Amino acid sequence: MADSTVIKIGICGLGVVGQGVWKHLQRNRKLLESRIGVKLDLTRAAVRSLDKSRSVKIPDNRLTDDVMSLATDPGLQIVCELMGGTDLARDFTLAALKAGKVVVSANKALICDHGREIFKAARTGGGHYFFEASVGGGIPIIKALREGLVANRFKLIYGVLNGTCNYILTRMEAEGLSFEELLKRARKLGYMEADESLDLDGIDTAHKAAVLGFLAHGRWVSMDEMLVEGIRRVTQEDIRQAAMLGYSIKLLAVITRDFETDRMFIGVHPALVPRSHVLANLTGAYNGICLSGDIVGTTFYIGRGAGQDATSSAVISDIADAALVIKGSHKLLLPDEAASVHEESSRPCGLLPLEEVHSLYYLRLTVKDEPGVLARVASVMAGNDVSIASVLQHELPLSKGASLILTTHQSNEKDVRNAVTELGELDSTIEEPFLMRIADFEE
Ligand code: HSE
Repeated sequence: MADSTVIKIGICGLGVVGQGVWKHLQRNRKLLESRIGVKLDLTRAAVRSLDKSRSVKIPDNRLTDDVMSLATDPGLQIVCELMGGTDLARDFTLAALKAGKVVVSANKALICDHGREIFKAARTGGGHYFFEASVGGGIPIIKALREGLVANRFKLIYGVLNGTCNYILTRMEAEGLSFEELLKRARKLGYMEADESLDLDGIDTAHKAAVLGFLAHGRWVSMDEMLVEGIRRVTQEDIRQAAMLGYSIKLLAVITRDFETDRMFIGVHPALVPRSHVLANLTGAYNGICLSGDIVGTTFYIGRGAGQDATSSAVISDIADAALVIKGSHKLLLPDEAASVHEESSRPCGLLPLEEVHSLYYLRLTVKDEPGVLARVASVMAGNDVSIASVLQHELPLSKGASLILTTHQSNEKDVRNAVTELGELDSTIEEPFLMRIADFEE
């Protein structure tokens, strides 16, 4: 290696990901150095508790419990924020960027809540912010979006971005078990976030969708500007009925942009995906993302979306990019550009209101099994201008009424929601109706 530059790295947070980064970077350091032509030194790590036992052994003189000291340490050029959370992580990130450092992060919640502020701090402080591990675990989706596909405009991005939900849904389909049984197993396997709502209610997926939406369209879409629904209400019956109709159920993130009206939309919701589609065959805790660019066409990315090794792979790739940026042989594309083009532009991309969203829908109703019920349901749908495509009915055991599964032709989201509200208020309705979208992507 001709270049003797040594880049000093600090790691803040030695949880599952932090330890993985330390371990893999030590193990593959020589190979990585020969690939990027820069020497890397894992100089210091910061943890909240020095007493906790860890699988990686770090010399005492390299370990501190003064987290903020890494942010301003003049000896470090790259700092990795792998603590998680949005309070101390935010203070740390802003202080490090202000000090002109390159920050590498896996923290999608932080980016989603404070992305605008963080990118601004990076621009004004002369630092950089890398976050490949925040979306899609080991899949280099951010690199694909901002480098490999930089020539494109993205009309449609969609995918499965939460491995835990994908595990639960695919095992429900494969084993015929209930949501509750699979939830217990996911807990035992250690798949669940400490706050389970992040996984189950679509929040983690929404954070990741916000990051992709920003990279593709230069606009931060907040959670309350998205449609966000989780998987808690998906039952074994939905899985079976979807299979009969030729679909698998997935928790999807969908990011669309209409370039004619210049408006974008982000939705996160369980959806029926045709079984012939590559995402329907995505098993276990995998993630899969489809990017459709106006020049390249449709591209797919599949890989492990979480876990120590996959996430470490993404963090280390950011460290390598950061080292090249510091060395001056690499330019960071898109986040800066997107931020400057769109945030300060006089005409930022707008948002498509929910009332203008159209889809095919799946609706499960539990109703009294008596004369006239189907006619009343059909009348509510017609009264809201929603056209029924198919109806499946079967009796529920123990005289619990009947289950009605309706699918619709292309319909307006607002009309369908109004219909669902009215259906829920009918005397013949036993349980709150459950609505899902049916994926019908043109490729
Ligand atoms: N809970 C997340 C998942 C972890 O299951 O995909 C990675 O963000």
